[in-house]
Amino acid sequence: MKRTCLAIVLAAGESTRMKSSMSKVLHPVAGRPMIAHVVESLVNASITSAALVLGRDADAVKAAAGRDDIELSAFLQTERLGTGHAVLAAKDAIAKGYDDILVVFGDTPLITAAPLLAARKGLADGNDIVVVGFQTADPTGYGRLIVEDGALLAIREQKDATEDERKITYCNGGLMAIKGARALELLGKIGNTNAKGEYYLTDIVEIVRAEGGKAIAVEAPETELTGCNNRAELAAIEAIWQKRRRHELMVSGVSMIAPETVFLAFDTQIAQDVLIEPNVVFGPGVIIESGAIIHAFSHLEGAHVGTEATVGPYARLRPGANLGPESKVGNFCEVKKAEIGAGAKVNHLTYIGDAFVGEKTNIGAGTITCNYDGVNKHITRIGANAFIGSNSSLVAPVSIGDGALVASGSVVTQDVPADAVAFGRARQEIKPGRAKILREKYQAEKAAKQKK
Ligand code: UD1
Ligand code: CA
Repeated sequence: MKRTCLAIVLAAGESTRMKSSMSKVLHPVAGRPMIAHVVESLVNASITSAALVLGRDADAVKAAAGRDDIELSAFLQTERLGTGHAVLAAKDAIAKGYDDILVVFGDTPLITAAPLLAARKGLADGNDIVVVGFQTADPTGYGRLIVEDGALLAIREQKDATEDERKITYCNGGLMAIKGARALELLGKIGNTNAKGEYYLTDIVEIVRAEGGKAIAVEAPETELTGCNNRAELAAIEAIWQKRRRHELMVSGVSMIAPETVFLAFDTQIAQDVLIEPNVVFGPGVIIESGAIIHAFSHLEGAHVGTEATVGPYARLRPGANLGPESKVGNFCEVKKAEIGAGAKVNHLTYIGDAFVGEKTNIGAGTITCNYDGVNKHITRIGANAFIGSNSSLVAPVSIGDGALVASGSVVTQDVPADAVAFGRARQEIKPGRAKILREKYQAEKAAKQKK
């Protein structure tokens, strides 16, 4: 029979070292709160129940963690007395009876399903406690794993460790599996006589061993277990996340010329045979279909880019931009909440917002949809095969029919029927010889002034 599991996610810390007005687990990695990354790893490990232990910003953390595919309960840890105390905040959930209890830290957002599954396997193999550790060049600040003959003897916190113990580079990653049937009993025995005066969850190892129980450590890569205590570590975690995701995308058929300059969001979807040039930034909610090219220095968020469309260089796609197949949005163009039809071109220095642009329509350089009157947003509709001359202002609400032509420099305030030409500008006048007369007049005036 399948073993049942409760994950306990610790997220009640003060986040003192983050020096922030919000809980650290709300700080984003790849555009979404750290805590959401942790919960996703639980889902990927097929865990269906989790208890959140919350303190600061409890409501916001709960909201950030929530998703449909996992049942979350929330517990408040009103005093921050250490990780051992924090786990016991969820004692009512533990008391429901699970085969496995998994303790996960809210500040380790790089975790994946693999170490969660490995920790549970350790319990299934008959151990009482399984700690997931990692080897690191710089163990400062982490609890050290004291291992002998395959058994985990103890975890020693930095502040309590001897000179020799501090040289150990095998560290506690913060992920621990506890045999459910013994969890409450063992947790209840944790005391607080240590350098910090805190209830250390890590003491559970020595407690279980003193009673003849079995504890082991299993190793996972450092990149999965890096904890976030300050903003420098947050940036390091972001860098690891980005590197990992770029690699996954490249292996799945996306080309990146300078991957280290491409920044992805947690949900960026890029299909096979897409080329991403250097210095491209993806905010949340972007989907790129196959064969598209994203040229250098483009910024996309909440946008859908169709098959073989091209974007940039220097384009900005904002939420609701939907580019049809083989369409083009070129340099210094901004598109927001707008459909760009198949094969349509928006190539230079243009703003298209709250608009529909039909298939194969050409939008000339410098065209602006004037979508905002200072109070309300209005819609611009442009049909298929239309041609909008350069430097036109389309004052919404306005419609331009299929095949219509708008003369350059027009300010369009009335609807333009299909196949019509619209001029919305002053007529040009020619004054023969007038430039020469003016120039001579100005020169004479200047000479007279200089004589004085
Ligand atoms: C902890 C471990 C250390 C390990 C490291 C890994 C203990 C005693 N130490 O140290 O062995 O190497 O993580 O990153 O467990 N929290 C609460 N309530 C509390 C205290 C903490 O919810 O009263 C939460 C925090 O929000 C955080 C997690 O527990 O998500 C870890 O707490 P933190 O203070 O960061 O522990 P470390 O000192 O990093
Ligand atoms: Ca930590």
